[in-house]
Amino acid sequence: MSERDNPLRPLLGTLVDTKDLADDIKLFQIELNGDRFEYQPGQFAFVSAFGVGEAPFGLASVSSRTPALEFAINRIGTVTSALHGLERGAVVGVRGPLGNAFPLDEMQGKNVVVLGGGIGGAPLRPVIHTILDNRPDYGHLDILWAARSPSLLVFTDEYDDWRSAPDTELHLTVDKGDSDWTGNVGLITGLLEKAAPSPEDAVAIICGPPIMIKFTVLTLQKLGFTAEQMIMTLEAKMKCGIGKCGRCNLGEKFVCLDGPVFSYAQVSHFLESFV
Ligand code: FES
Repeated sequence: MSERDNPLRPLLGTLVDTKDLADDIKLFQIELNGDRFEYQPGQFAFVSAFGVGEAPFGLASVSSRTPALEFAINRIGTVTSALHGLERGAVVGVRGPLGNAFPLDEMQGKNVVVLGGGIGGAPLRPVIHTILDNRPDYGHLDILWAARSPSLLVFTDEYDDWRSAPDTELHLTVDKGDSDWTGNVGLITGLLEKAAPSPEDAVAIICGPPIMIKFTVLTLQKLGFTAEQMIMTLEAKMKCGIGKCGRCNLGEKFVCLDGPVFSYAQVSHFLESFV
């Protein structure tokens, strides 16, 4: 096997910019140093801070909008703290793209409900961008976007674009408001009950912490969504990302290899133990 074919060997990239997204959350924009990297919404990659380690992140960009690979990274551990400490121009490693993708082709012609919780919503941004950039191909778009507090809402600078797109509604909520917040306060499940999207010809895409996925599924079921109409991307402890280490298994499935995108029909019997 050549070094280039070794799936555990990262490609080299340059950190071309970062943007503050929310408290302790930055958008990292990385351009590869010459390598090709073709990816689809829903896939993920490991990003490494050399000398410290690597961690997996969902790709938050679409290649039709930017040459950079974008990742929303929360400073919560050793690797993410090291990445947050890097200056523009730093060399990083990128290993991927890994995993499967959202079934955007099969979703064409359908109404779409996107449900994002906190930074977990970052992998949904490519779904939103794809639909907005190909608006006639999809039905009504409801975006339900939640965070624990207003300062933790991500991609706030894009909300006006999302709201003003044809046949598109953005619904925001926070668990706890602040003195400036005039929007909805409460869990995403309450917001979903208020928006009450019809399950007819619809698909719901969910991304967020496991507990949010669990209760969002219950609310969607009350609205009449079937297990096949609910698509989710799951988080798991990962080491190799290529189906070799066994860290990310969910029953007989590997989140890194068979996912991270699953329909609820595929994982409903595992999800209880997963959350
Ligand atoms: S991360 Fe190693 S098998 Fe999935």
